[in-house]
Amino acid sequence: MDDGSLESARHRDREDSLAPFREEFYRPEGGIYLDGNSLGLLSKRAERSILETLEVWKRLGIEGWTTGPSPWFYLAERVGELIAPLLGVTPNEVVVTSSTTVNIHQAIATFYHPEGSRNKILADALTFPSDIYALQSQIQLHGYNPDECLIRVAGQDDGMLDEEELILSMTNEVALVFLPSVLYRSGQILDMPRLTRAAHDRGILIGFDCCHSVGALPHAFDEWGVDFAVWCNYKYLNGGPGSVAGLFINRHHCERMPGLRGWFGSHPDKQFDMEHIFSRALGAAAFQLGTPHVLSMAPLVGALEMFRDAGIDRLRRKSLDLTRYLMFLVSERLDGMGFTMGSPVADDRRGGHVLLRHEHAAGITKALKDRGVIPDFRGPDGIRLAPMALYTSFEEVWHAVEIIHQVMQDDSYRRYPNIRDVVS
Ligand SMILES: Cc1ncc(COP(=O)(O)O)c(C=O)c1O
Repeated sequence: MDDGSLESARHRDREDSLAPFREEFYRPEGGIYLDGNSLGLLSKRAERSILETLEVWKRLGIEGWTTGPSPWFYLAERVGELIAPLLGVTPNEVVVTSSTTVNIHQAIATFYHPEGSRNKILADALTFPSDIYALQSQIQLHGYNPDECLIRVAGQDDGMLDEEELILSMTNEVALVFLPSVLYRSGQILDMPRLTRAAHDRGILIGFDCCHSVGALPHAFDEWGVDFAVWCNYKYLNGGPGSVAGLFINRHHCERMPGLRGWFGSHPDKQFDMEHIFSRALGAAAFQLGTPHVLSMAPLVGALEMFRDAGIDRLRRKSLDLTRYLMFLVSERLDGMGFTMGSPVADDRRGGHVLLRHEHAAGITKALKDRGVIPDFRGPDGIRLAPMALYTSFEEVWHAVEIIHQVMQDDSYRRYPNIRDVVS
């Protein structure tokens, strides 16, 4: 049993086979970075792949599209290949393209075919706002009223979703289900295989927003039969601010005509024929729209090599060890200070971060940032703490909890306004 001491945290670090990866990252000096679930840190390998891309642009100009170590014309598929094992799918089912929000539009435009009374999309009330905006606008584009056709299953008092309720809501009026894999606030993992089975048993297609699960835990989308998924690459995968996002289209649907079409979805042999008839690329590549954002994709080549080398199962084991340890220290050191645990305690229900709830969460977050601990605030009362398997040490988790203890004990958090910043 861990005695909660600094020495035992150091012991954990000495036993950690992933510890060497930490040295590959640029970490804020003197800080403890616990915000990798919003923006992952820059690694030396990602930096190298950006610089290589700049060098190709510098030396080859437009020839970089087809020559050089990683021709830009095929980069979206190449990066997709590196991500495919993280999703448990084959490479041609994945493409790296656009932003998460644009990919949601693409997926819904492709898979939402309302017919008669089966015209509703099932989502949840706790999901990320951009997902809801995209669903509302797609429903509207089909001539329906989002107030009637978008079902949002409410969360429970503890901030979690009840899968039973989600399944009960899969009625014969539902044309499509779109849910998060891991909830961005609580970190709850939804049981994706169960929900997929339930949707398919009722003749409904289902997709997931995996922004908070890709790179944090393994997926087996092909085995589970998930129809489509979207995610961003700037959180757990460390692709950099605004890095290009991802789209998975199950191979059973790869022949579908993309709901939104653009010339980079063309078959590469036909693209420069400049015809006005769209001949689709094979697989998920057909769902691309315009010219790939090469500079925003480049860091992923280096960043993803680390996932290949570390292995997602090993990363998940360490991530669980880190969050379990963090929850243990919270219960030991912060008891009676007004915190409640906002994340599932069971390992198989918890993603890669821990949510602490407190009525002064915004003020506490500011006090922590001033002391070098970087979490983020999610209203109305949440502090998200995300120790990253590739670069957070157990010792850092230990110090972070000690610093939270200090700002609570000396009341210094009360000196900060309890309101969120513009970007929180
Ligand atoms: C769960 C979730 N979905 C969607 C988005 C939006 O992603 P993007 O800004 O890349 O469109 C985010 C961004 O943080 C997110 O966390």
